[in-house]
Amino acid sequence: MPGAIHLECTATGERFESERLQGLSPAGKPLYARYDLAAIRETFRPEVLRGRRPDMWRYAEVLPLRDPACRVCLGEGFTPLIDAPRLASRIGVSRVWVKDEGQNPTGSFKARGLGMAISRAKELGATAVALPSAGNAGAAAAAYGAAAGIPVHVVVPNDTPRPIVEEIRALGADLQLIDGLINDCGRIVKQGVEEKGWFALSTLKEPYRVEGKKTMGYELFEQLGGRLPDVILYPTGGGTGLVGMWKAFGEMEELGWIGSERPRMVTVQAAGCAPMVRAFESGATSAELWEGAETYASGLRVPAAVGDFLILRALRESGGTAIAIPDHEMHEWVYHMGADTGVFGAPEGGAVAAAAWRLRASGAIGAHEEVVLFNTGGGLNYVGNEPID
Ligand SMILES: Cc1ncc(COP(=O)(O)O)c(C=O)c1O
Repeated sequence: MPGAIHLECTATGERFESERLQGLSPAGKPLYARYDLAAIRETFRPEVLRGRRPDMWRYAEVLPLRDPACRVCLGEGFTPLIDAPRLASRIGVSRVWVKDEGQNPTGSFKARGLGMAISRAKELGATAVALPSAGNAGAAAAAYGAAAGIPVHVVVPNDTPRPIVEEIRALGADLQLIDGLINDCGRIVKQGVEEKGWFALSTLKEPYRVEGKKTMGYELFEQLGGRLPDVILYPTGGGTGLVGMWKAFGEMEELGWIGSERPRMVTVQAAGCAPMVRAFESGATSAELWEGAETYASGLRVPAAVGDFLILRALRESGGTAIAIPDHEMHEWVYHMGADTGVFGAPEGGAVAAAAWRLRASGAIGAHEEVVLFNTGGGLNYVGNEPID
């Protein structure tokens, strides 16, 4: 398979070799994999996808893996895009789809990023991998590490939902629980990288989790019959999925699948941890650390993101916005989404549904618009951690 032609620093544009393990660029910014899209433009058409395997590997031409034998597959991707007419009328828009990422292995969209990053780490010869996590990424890493036969070290905050902790342990990973937030966990991983030679899989600090996440953008196009919605609402922590889809849309334009039009991208965060919302509203191009982060949506308890400038750029270039939702409202909308669609969502999914309602009420989303809500995980993992009303 062709793979990437090089890696590119997202801040400086400087190019780096793609066929060895890489972390951040020398400028301390995320690296993106680039492909020879001009060379595959004639042959990689949407029609060729028909009949391919229903998982994220169907987009092999725009994925970084070269050797198919290194693919670590547990059935990740090609999750259902569920038409939700009753949720649409509750929100007050003409059409809503729920992209149900809870149906991925280990119950969240983290399977895409970690499936890709661990496959690629295996291909490039990593012997042990490590990551700080809010929980779901740790579970996904544990699963793909187990499937690949690569030892995984996970560091999570000690208030991570108990089912996720149990899952990580059952999947054979080395787990450390610490009194702190995900950025504190990151410091412990950094130490392991320096002292024990682990390869770090932290969000956007290696180039391939975003390549797995970008497949959500290709899937939306395919599942909507060759078009994109007006608005995409995405629960944003580190932002990999949001910037990944944005990258996918850029590639799809270069491939001639779409024109220059884009959905409006909306970042949804928790009121108790909203660094991107604050930065977006203040007009900043990067975000300051959020002190005292608190929310039961553990995936949104991310006080700082290395890809902050990429998230903010995608929101602004798309004409989108950023909005924060209090925990009790997420919880309420988990129930609305559940009763209207049959999908028991994560609080992060409840947050985007609540955000769609608020943005419709304020007029930021029009009544005739078509909206995709990302339910990034299943609800079961969070049972017992809900806010008490
Ligand atoms: C269920 C869920 N939704 C959303 C997020 C945020 O994802 P990202 O880091 O891609 O913004 C996470 C991250 O842990 C998560 O677990």
